[in-house]
Amino acid sequence: MKTIIKNASELVTCKGGVKYGKAMSDIGLIHDGAVVIDDDKIVAVGTTDEILSKYDSGDAIVINAEGKTVMPGFVDSHTHFIFGGYRADEFSWRLKGDSYMSIMERGGGIASTMKATRKASFKELYDEGLSRLKRMLSYGVTTVEGKSGYGLDKDTEIRMLEVMKALDEEQPVDIVRTYLGPHATPPEYKDRNMDFLKFNVEEVMPVVKERELAEFADIFTEKNVFSIEESEYYLKKAHEMGFKLKVHADEMYDLGGAGMAARLGAASADHLLMASDESIEALSKSNTIATLLPATAFSLGAEYARGRKMIDMGAAVAIASDYNPGSCHTCSIPLIIAISCIYMHLTIEEVITALTINGAAACGRSESVGSIEPGKKADIIILEKPSINFLPYCTGMNIVESVIKDGTLVKG
Ligand code: NIG
Ligand code: FE
Repeated sequence: MKTIIKNASELVTCKGGVKYGKAMSDIGLIHDGAVVIDDDKIVAVGTTDEILSKYDSGDAIVINAEGKTVMPGFVDSHTHFIFGGYRADEFSWRLKGDSYMSIMERGGGIASTMKATRKASFKELYDEGLSRLKRMLSYGVTTVEGKSGYGLDKDTEIRMLEVMKALDEEQPVDIVRTYLGPHATPPEYKDRNMDFLKFNVEEVMPVVKERELAEFADIFTEKNVFSIEESEYYLKKAHEMGFKLKVHADEMYDLGGAGMAARLGAASADHLLMASDESIEALSKSNTIATLLPATAFSLGAEYARGRKMIDMGAAVAIASDYNPGSCHTCSIPLIIAISCIYMHLTIEEVITALTINGAAACGRSESVGSIEPGKKADIIILEKPSINFLPYCTGMNIVESVIKDGTLVKG
């Protein structure tokens, strides 16, 4: 079945693959644009005049996007959206001055979600996951990365990945799965980090690999969580097993996690609030995507990552939500856009690149999603307003009117 979207006041293509530094400003904008979709794929892109002179709209579904903006679906390339229980109490403690790390050191934080997630059934995790995905879709997210990491034991880690696999098959949003066994050391392995990492590498990851439950492996490299040496051990083993790599790096302390991620050829280094000048330089000289999670810094009341400097130095920046039950309980794309523009001083063009093609690159999908180009999946959103400038201007408000996923209208 053919669909033609025509008369888009602005058509954002984001064509040309992952973008570094200055090139992030080039979003391939076409005024009065049109897109032809055949079944689930994009077949042609151009001005409305060009497209209508080549394609007969007689036998097609025609969507008139006059006065609207058409752009690629958002790729949320870092989330922890499968979890049991909530931590609203911790949020209120933080509002009174407690810190994320001190709550974690007292046995709250990730350990508290671990207990609730271990208790949760497949169905409970599935149902909650589904309702969270529906909310993400309403914001225009068509691909999401999701991590395990709240089981910290073999059964629960595998259950979390299986839930994501089932959700991927049964609802529209594409899910990229990441194994995050070393998210924290569970009580059974207290003070035995290396034993816990060996357990991950020797007992859990071979099963994850064999059953194709995850493409990526990730670790929380942080002071009092996993050191650089421990992280290198785990990441090298993961790489040998065929996992692509991601790293939670330099969030609370500058341990040099971003530099390590670049050195090991990770697909992305994420958080980076405390990343040093040397780490930023290493990232800008590498193919590792600098993934920034502004809603986490916002929720923690922390300083934002130096996104402006990263782009100015030539890095490829992605932006994602980090949706999780602790440090950042939001998947709001409008909030992230507002913070990125207002407080991290990125332009809306850079933010769009970061949330589409660069996000796709951060989760290994830049060949199939993240831009509106012939051959790519027809994952397209339509904004109710005529220009991209309305994205930050409509501060915190959702202006996504329609979502087309794999060529099918799923919202709007
Ligand atoms: O990316 N920093 C580590 N992991 C998550 C938070 C997990 C949690 O608090 O439950 C993050 O922010
Ligand atoms: Fe995270």
